[in-house]
Amino acid sequence: MLSAVERKIEQFVIELDDKEVRSLYAKLPVGKRLRAKLILRIAGSSLPVVKTAAIVEMIHAASLLHDDVIDDAYMRRNKPSLNALYGNKTAIMLGDILYSKGFFELNNISLDVAKLISNAVTQLSLGELKDVSLSKAFNPDKDAYMKMIYQKTASLIEASAGAAALLAGKPKVVFMTYGRNLGLAFQMIDDLLDITQDSATLGKPAMHDFVEGKTTLPYIYLYEVLDASGKEKLRSMHGRVLRDEELNWLKASFETHQILVKCYAQATELIDEAVELMNAQGEEALSEIAMEMIDREF
Ligand code: IPE
Ligand code: IPE
Ligand code: MG
Ligand code: MG
Ligand code: MG
Repeated sequence: MLSAVERKIEQFVIELDDKEVRSLYAKLPVGKRLRAKLILRIAGSSLPVVKTAAIVEMIHAASLLHDDVIDDAYMRRNKPSLNALYGNKTAIMLGDILYSKGFFELNNISLDVAKLISNAVTQLSLGELKDVSLSKAFNPDKDAYMKMIYQKTASLIEASAGAAALLAGKPKVVFMTYGRNLGLAFQMIDDLLDITQDSATLGKPAMHDFVEGKTTLPYIYLYEVLDASGKEKLRSMHGRVLRDEELNWLKASFETHQILVKCYAQATELIDEAVELMNAQGEEALSEIAMEMIDREF
């Protein structure tokens, strides 16, 4: 019933009663709709569920509008990003409009759902801020990375699963744990794909994270195993465009030390846990979503 979610988002945007916003929103390509699918698979397709899924996707779209400004990214979902087309100011304001419309609509669901989702958006924003501050220097601290990705990405997925469980009268804590694992693995995979895929496949810039100063998990693990001169070389490459020779060294080093395999295995562990939880609940369809999240190319 994803089409009902699409229609609901469209209705929310029309209700804003602003031609410019309508036309800007219409220019945003549709994403994978993972969060909406998750909510529908947990809670079915009653009106409050469809509305919640639409709200979460609007909030997610807002977070990406801001994220592309933050990350200086000019491509999103295989098209020029909104900041590339119309500048940062427009992207930021459209993000604010979608966020606030989402919060307004949450009031019509339930207080518990509204609290859960809005609190996750605070976490998301704290995580984005932390991502920026961590990117100012090379960050070798894995715990700081894990906490940051929990906040910026897992919190909203966790809250989506929790909200859907509330709406469906299912046990909230189990579903939130499932969502948390999914969210962490999802961002770990996103950070791997930045390294392994080209930008045409991703629909967004490739090999961009480290250039932007983001020391994602593969860089943290590589740093741990390099000798002193390797460590120095990696640090010297942080936060700038790399020469071909440097890129080749990086890719060869990831390969030699089996770094990407290690990161992938760690994401898989989180997904396996999530799958076990859902199998124990008799929720095989949700186990499938978890597996789709890890076996993806973009
Ligand atoms: C991108 O999210 C941002 C991250 C949390 C990594 P998605 O990969 O779900 O984006 P779309 O909605 O499918 O484009
Ligand atoms: C963004 O993480 C997560 C949020 C939008 C909160 P990224 O910066 O890695 O997402 P992409 O790679 O641009 O989609
Ligand atoms: Mg980004
Ligand atoms: Mg970002
Ligand atoms: Mg990314």
